[in-house]
Amino acid sequence: MDALNLMALEKLAERELSAMTWGYYYGGADDEVTLRRNRAAYEDISLRYRVLVDVGERDLSATVLGSKLELPVLVAPTAFHKLAHPDGEVATARAATAVGTTMVLSTLSTTGVEEVVSAAERDIWFQLYVYCDRGATEALVQRVHAAGCKALVLTVDAPLLGRRERDIRTGFALPEGMGIENMLADGYARVDAAEGDSGLAAYFARLLDPSLCWKDLDWLRSISPMPVLVKGIVRADDARRSIEHGADGIIVSNHGGRQLDTSVATIEALPDVAAEVGDEALLLLDGGIRRGTDILKALALGAHAVLIGRPVLWGLAAGGQAGVEHALSLLRTELDLAMALAGCATIEDIRADLIAPKGR
Ligand SMILES: Cc1cc2nc3c(=O)[nH]c(=O)nc-3n(C[C@H](O)[C@H](O)[C@H](O)COP(=O)(O)O)c2cc1C
Repeated sequence: MDALNLMALEKLAERELSAMTWGYYYGGADDEVTLRRNRAAYEDISLRYRVLVDVGERDLSATVLGSKLELPVLVAPTAFHKLAHPDGEVATARAATAVGTTMVLSTLSTTGVEEVVSAAERDIWFQLYVYCDRGATEALVQRVHAAGCKALVLTVDAPLLGRRERDIRTGFALPEGMGIENMLADGYARVDAAEGDSGLAAYFARLLDPSLCWKDLDWLRSISPMPVLVKGIVRADDARRSIEHGADGIIVSNHGGRQLDTSVATIEALPDVAAEVGDEALLLLDGGIRRGTDILKALALGAHAVLIGRPVLWGLAAGGQAGVEHALSLLRTELDLAMALAGCATIEDIRADLIAPKGR
């Protein structure tokens, strides 16, 4: 694998993927303003590095929910890994293990949760979409706990699917023989083509519960033996309410620009949320992380760790497990160097003073 950075890996992946899969992985909602903003916002943040600090030995490890990660980068939940590579989520889980981090497995996984957990030798967290069928949702929570998942990540920014025009154009649907393996028993496994729409948007509109609200977080907390994180927060008041309703962690996320277009870049939403959350809960961020310096900035602005979505899929498409390991290793190498150049020997050394005040 010779991709020099994640953008080069993206180009390799594009060559491997069908137009439908590429459009689904790459795309955002509407005009893809937020998709671009998530990236561009990092360029507007300047670093005030520290000098003459002994950085002869660096330690990139971080602790999340009591588990040590070798680097502060988790694998974000993304759907349908078998569209990228036949080894699918198993390859991703093995890669996360190899680099020493946690994978968050999507509800929309093309591999059953038990198989993924047993392929990984590290923590797997499970990302939950709540179905209108609460019985099936509750059974899914019990199933992923029994399988050994260590946390639940409730995604709250998708009461309906964002309008992803690329998927409407290509008529997104899962090929024959591929399905949402965790929902087989309930008959919710198929994502079929929909006339004039994305098959996934139609699936959401038909099966997932758009009436989800705060009392449902209480419900989930009451049935989940696992810690619960809330994913999709961009406001301090929603972060506060999440904690009041029992969340153990917050993920600042706009779904990689795939839901409400023109919404705020996640790195711009982070400071307010971090000021509200402090050390009361685990605070993670995703969206547009492509460079080691992006991670440095997110941690300086208050995140405890970050997640990456698309780069994992690029790695998977370009080289299966080895490709995902390469994606994560590139970020490890870049973060290590960025820390050294910024005067940080450990993750704890990455603090807000590294960020230059705007306009200076
Ligand atoms: C192809 C694709 C599928 C995704 N599927 C899910 C999903 O099933 N559940 C979820 O909570 N988020 C999903 N996301 C959002 C990611 O978890 C994450 O928020 C986003 O990808 C982060 O931005 P990045 O891709 O710029 O790193 C998906 C994103 C992509 C690109």
